[in-house]
Amino acid sequence: MPVPPPTAPVSIVTGSSRGIGRQIAAALARDGHRLMLVARDATALTSVADELRNAGSQVATVAVDLRATGAVERVLTATEDAFGKPDVIVNNAGTAPSEKVENTTDAMLREAFDLHVAVPLAFARTCAADMKARGSGCLMHLASTAGLQGFAFTSAYSAAKHGMVGLVRALHAELRPRGLHVYAVCPGFVDTDITRRAAAAIARKGRTSADEAMVRMGEQNRIGRMHTPAEVADAVAGLLRGRPEGCVYDLDRSPPAFLDPR
Ligand SMILES: NC(=O)c1ccc[n+]([C@@H]2O[C@H](COP(=O)([O-])OP(=O)(O)OC[C@H]3O[C@@H](n4cnc5c(N)ncnc54)[C@H](OP(=O)(O)O)[C@@H]3O)[C@@H](O)[C@H]2O)c1
Repeated sequence: MPVPPPTAPVSIVTGSSRGIGRQIAAALARDGHRLMLVARDATALTSVADELRNAGSQVATVAVDLRATGAVERVLTATEDAFGKPDVIVNNAGTAPSEKVENTTDAMLREAFDLHVAVPLAFARTCAADMKARGSGCLMHLASTAGLQGFAFTSAYSAAKHGMVGLVRALHAELRPRGLHVYAVCPGFVDTDITRRAAAAIARKGRTSADEAMVRMGEQNRIGRMHTPAEVADAVAGLLRGRPEGCVYDLDRSPPAFLDPR
């Protein structure tokens, strides 16, 4: 049973009840992080936490809607109570609205910006002073190739992911000189609930099956196939281990590479 050393990093992983976030939590647990898992679904979080605890990891959970007032502060207080101040924030929680522009509502845009921009900014705002004082810390963001280029039927999502990449570049410029690392990891389509819901929506329009739609989406990735959640998680864990210089990490190329390697 792995026993984390006393200096084991304290890491918050948002959206860790399923999908990419769940795999990130598992990868960081293997690397000895003490973990605060965050999502709305308390039952799913408990099941992920139990699995990781049974493998010997220190894990706590907060079931919260990150869009609610005071949610970020609640997560940080719970983390401090359980383990102390966080060393790593993984901003992964998200949704991916997919609609033609005529059907893209203000509510969809607001949700996308809340989760992909406002919540990560709130974590940065609240943790920056302590991380600067310690001269270390990492703000990790699950962005997307939709934050680097436009994809049809994703105006709210693409706008928010571009916003996230912009936020990350600004935070990197401000905080890297103070010892922090700020990263955006940008996968193409990944095989998770988000993509399966999009494939089901395409299938409902009657032109193709959901399985065929999944294959077509994978083919839109530069690597020619869907990413797996585990390979995204491995990339995140690798960056957290090595802390290379760089900021925006494009996973949808072979090999993955920083777009701005300073
Ligand atoms: N799948 C892809 O193709 C893909 C590609 C590039 C980037 N990404 C990004 O990767 C991240 C994870 O995506 P995924 O595919 O793993 O999605 P997913 O399987 O749908 O998981 C999303 C996670 O976010 C949590 N979440 C959603 N809204 C929340 C809220 N208001 N408050 C708290 N937690 C919330 C969900 O938990 P609850 O429902 O329990 O709250 C869940 O744990 C997202 O930021 C997404 O944009 C995904």
